[in-house]
Amino acid sequence: MKKIKNQEKEQENSIILSITNLHKRYNESKSNEVHALRGIDLTVRKGDMMAIMGPSGCGKTTLLNMIGHLDRRSSGDIIIGNVNTLTLSDNQMTSFRRDNIGFIFQLFNLFPFLTAVENVETPLLLKGMNSGLAREQAKMLLRELGMGDRLYHQPSELSGGQQQRVAVGRALINQPAIILGDEPTGDLDSTTSSDVMALFRRINRTNKQTLVLVTHNRWIAEQCDYIVHMRDGKISHSEQGPFNKKEKKQ
Ligand SMILES: Nc1ncnc2c1ncn2[C@@H]1O[C@H](COP(=O)(O)OP(=O)(O)O)[C@@H](O)[C@H]1O
Ligand SMILES: [Mg+2]
Repeated sequence: MKKIKNQEKEQENSIILSITNLHKRYNESKSNEVHALRGIDLTVRKGDMMAIMGPSGCGKTTLLNMIGHLDRRSSGDIIIGNVNTLTLSDNQMTSFRRDNIGFIFQLFNLFPFLTAVENVETPLLLKGMNSGLAREQAKMLLRELGMGDRLYHQPSELSGGQQQRVAVGRALINQPAIILGDEPTGDLDSTTSSDVMALFRRINRTNKQTLVLVTHNRWIAEQCDYIVHMRDGKISHSEQGPFNKKEKKQ
């Protein structure tokens, strides 16, 4: 499956993600059915940095999983770039996801027995890149993330913030058009959180990569361009982040 092309990436204000009337029911048609998403409509432009907030259980993780196609929707359309993902077979979806979407989860999901550099190079090796080149690129990115002196440490030998940087590196190495984070700074102290947010901001601004971050932290959300509020499986309202307003005034 093709990677969303550079010229598509460069179009200003183009829509990268469009969701229409998305529903997700867990345990569908059973007595314990949960209607977790109840008609989500959402449009994200290329290069947007968007926060999703809302009380526990309102469907934030479910929505992120649907955008990332980690789980099946019940109904609705999701268009990424210009691809309606319902038209993709499972195999096509797997490579489409690998090429276009990066994931950063709270629990890091690093491979425990691989070193930092091995964790980061894995997506490139899966894509079939030559191992020498993959190693070089992974090292370069880790150095950029301030992890140049921790290349050969395993996750258990790293602090939470350092592990998160490795997870960020692994999500970014493919230069995915969309990066999804579920509480990506959730376990980090406030200094490390602001470092990670500054890093997100930088890659967002430099590479025009789109970020969608779930957070319960208002301070984190306010560093995004938009904040989308969810309640009971629906979007209740959206607001522009102060960061964005400030930039527009200048
Ligand atoms: N795998 C699952 N099976 C059944 N119900 C689930 C599952 N995952 C989430 N839910 C339910 O769906 C609703 C939304 O959950 P979730 O998306 O995790 O919310 P949030 O991330 O906002 O806390 C909740 O009521 C939750 O209990
Ligand atoms: Mg959640």
